[in-house]
Amino acid sequence: MFQINRVAAKKTFENYVNQFDTRDDKVRLKIEHTARVTALCERIAKSLGLPEDDVNLAWMMGLLHDVGRFEQLKDFGTFNDAQSIDHAKYGVKLLFDDGHIRDYLADESCDNLIRTAIWNHNVFRMPEELNKRELLFCQILRDADKIDILRVNVEIPIETIYNCTTEELKNATVTEAVLQSFAEEHAVEHCLKRTPVDHVVGHASLVFELVYPISICIVEEQGYLEKILSFQSNNSKTKAQFEQIAQIMKAFLEKANCAMGIVSNQITDTFINFFSVIQ
Ligand SMILES: [Fe+2]
Repeated sequence: MFQINRVAAKKTFENYVNQFDTRDDKVRLKIEHTARVTALCERIAKSLGLPEDDVNLAWMMGLLHDVGRFEQLKDFGTFNDAQSIDHAKYGVKLLFDDGHIRDYLADESCDNLIRTAIWNHNVFRMPEELNKRELLFCQILRDADKIDILRVNVEIPIETIYNCTTEELKNATVTEAVLQSFAEEHAVEHCLKRTPVDHVVGHASLVFELVYPISICIVEEQGYLEKILSFQSNNSKTKAQFEQIAQIMKAFLEKANCAMGIVSNQITDTFINFFSVIQ
């Protein structure tokens, strides 16, 4: 039995973040992101029918996944890992090398799993050697994180996140390699992005990486993807590119919804077979 005390763990997290300037919008952004990712991890885990211990474990991973963000911001003034430190690896250092995991959790039985999920939450592609259980929790955390990143990228202006002017953003075109990557239905790698508007496309492309059906449902329910895709450019070429992007995403969501329909039909068939056995 995996033991957690949610109230105490939340309190520990609050005490930790209170050491930083909580009036700073960027600090508040990460506190809110953490709260949302924690709730999303729980929701995804429940949707998969996982036992209560595993739902609690997913919840805990959400709470701890971005613990490295606060010192990253304090020391480097940025959330850009490429220009500072890898915040996931730094979080692992704080929790497991410095031992702060014990401030949140007395039970040591899932330390390796928590470490693996946090370590891999921001990598572009996960290592192939993960076992089934590691993969499950990594995917839950990564889905939850991506779902909330869509919200953050709508609520915070692109100009603020990427230090560009509105004019630059509105006149930029999508780089061909970014468009190509989007058409292939996978997340756009950072190294391909050249223009401010490439980041907008990059945000939308996170949806392609979602693993669990509930994650697609939550994205559709939240409505942030639609807002990202309704980007208004002043450049006619970019307008046409965004029409193409919206079409690609629409087709992808239709396929995803259709696949979910197939899954639920399979469940229905199983029940039908089960009942026919009893009859
Ligand atoms: Fe993160």
